Amino acid sequence: MSVHKSDLKKITTHQLQEMKNRGEKISMLTAYDYSMAKIIDGAGIDIILVGDSASNVMAGNETTLPITLDQMIYHGSSVVKAVTRALVVIDLPFGSYQGSSGEALRSAIRIMKEAGAHAVKLEGGSEVKDSVERILMAGIPVMGHLGLTPQSIYKFGTYTVRAKEEAEATKLLEDAKLLEACGCFALVLEKIPAKLAKQVASALHIPVIGIGAGPDVDGQVLVMQDMLGINQDFKPRFLRRYADLHTAITNAVGKYITDVKSKDFPSKEEMY
Ligand code: KIV
Repeated sequence: MSVHKSDLKKITTHQLQEMKNRGEKISMLTAYDYSMAKIIDGAGIDIILVGDSASNVMAGNETTLPITLDQMIYHGSSVVKAVTRALVVIDLPFGSYQGSSGEALRSAIRIMKEAGAHAVKLEGGSEVKDSVERILMAGIPVMGHLGLTPQSIYKFGTYTVRAKEEAEATKLLEDAKLLEACGCFALVLEKIPAKLAKQVASALHIPVIGIGAGPDVDGQVLVMQDMLGINQDFKPRFLRRYADLHTAITNAVGKYITDVKSKDFPSKEEMY
């Protein structure tokens, strides 16, 4: 079901907070280009994340590490041009904020100025506290990201569920509180036990958005290519597919090829 155009108001971080306060769940999806962003914004999505998952689903890389700040700005500016309602959050890519808080601020400013983002997202807790604070001091809204943080894949070694052990769960809860205390407007929790996600969402006042974090959080996010069934190889337990675009596109392209080869296309009506 899409949302009525007359119901559409521009989403702000303040409105997201109000949604949490009144128990309304927040919807978030990724997008990386103008055409797709226009469709999902028109359908009424609350937040569009220009995720560094663009590295995987747009560029075909195995991890999110190779994508550059310039490439994120390119994807982000295409999305921003399409959007009239959703809040657009752009990921700070690996290597653009870990070096120092000054570097983090410079990267965040480039994303705001050159792509026109409404907010930035970065991965990590206490390790990135200085960077988060410095970016926030410049008036740039920050979304945190804890749990499975794909930019640290070579430290973790696998993409399995995080924070199953007590020590990691305790650090995650402390990091979540720290990010809220710093002034983050929202937090993404990726691939952690549902029980822990529920504990974090009820301990925090800011909205907590889950991916593979169960139902008891304030909203959900999925990668668009995964939920539309474009990417067929990725089948984690948390993913629900809402379409089978891989089959739909394959069939459409197959029909086009047949029509071209058989000279059925173009017809008299399709020429000048
Ligand atoms: O890059 C991304 O798509 C993300 C989501 C999985 C939350 O960070």
